[in-house]
Amino acid sequence: MNRVQGKVAVVTGASSGFGRGIAKALAAEGAKVVVGDVHEHPNAGGFEDDPALTTVEAIQKAGGRATYVSCDVTKADQVEALVAAAVAEFGRLDVFVNNAGIYRNGKRLHEFTEADLDVCYEVNAKGSFFGAQSAVRQFLAQGDGGVIINLVSTAGLQGHPNQSVYNISKGAQANLTRCLAIEYGKDGVRVNGICPTYAKTSLTRQLFDDQDFDRVFTESIPLKRWGEVDDIAQLAVFLASDESSYIHGDLIKVDGGETLCRYSVD
Ligand SMILES: NC(=O)c1ccc[n+]([C@@H]2O[C@H](COP(=O)([O-])OP(=O)(O)OC[C@H]3O[C@@H](n4cnc5c(N)ncnc54)[C@H](O)[C@@H]3O)[C@@H](O)[C@H]2O)c1
Repeated sequence: MNRVQGKVAVVTGASSGFGRGIAKALAAEGAKVVVGDVHEHPNAGGFEDDPALTTVEAIQKAGGRATYVSCDVTKADQVEALVAAAVAEFGRLDVFVNNAGIYRNGKRLHEFTEADLDVCYEVNAKGSFFGAQSAVRQFLAQGDGGVIINLVSTAGLQGHPNQSVYNISKGAQANLTRCLAIEYGKDGVRVNGICPTYAKTSLTRQLFDDQDFDRVFTESIPLKRWGEVDDIAQLAVFLASDESSYIHGDLIKVDGGETLCRYSVD
């Protein structure tokens, strides 16, 4: 308990999936949390414990502190306003989690449209860039550092079949993590990326429900199971906390051993 006591954390895309799990876990460990998302209720088709509740309601029900701010991460002014709202509500910013993301798969590279490429890049890469800019500006103004966590993917570390537009955007996020770590370490800003394989959220529901995909994917993972939101949320708490004070610029896999294997899911 209290591993991030008193810290102020902004989590983008926190109405559903990983972002929601991270927001709840941070609040349970004492953080004051700002939920930024394009809508307040969780996506349909997810695996949430309490889908009727917004993330803020779920946190408050558990005795934590949180507020919601409408924010589309592809709009720089809205991301600036998200950070400003965190400072107005809770006095400062300590942790910024670039989690909002979208997924596009199911086509070979020559079949994707420019619109597929643009939307992945806009939300996943540009959204994280704006998040990092706004967080860093606030951290520099405060003068005592901070933490940025980027939700990347094993797709940012290697190639996967039939999802090139997603992989390109995740590769950009991985390199954003490295650039930020090099530039802002001297300012006490710690930056890391979390790289999950497929985990159970609304983003992967269609794949989870595809019995052939489920069988081949599960078989390809040494731990023989899908990732769970809590696997990612607990790592995010560790990276947000002072327990990880010398971990910087890392891209940490949460993949049940996926990237050790030769298998690919086509
Ligand atoms: N689920 C997985 O298997 C998996 C694996 C690796 C990486 N990731 C990454 O983790 C992150 C979260 O994914 P998830 O599985 O929880 O997805 P999800 O679809 O369950 O939740 C994503 C949330 O982001 C929000 N969002 C989407 N576009 C937004 C925008 N423009 N501005 C603000 N919010 C926006 C959605 O409203 C939603 O609440 C993403 O970056 C994703 O690429 C997911």
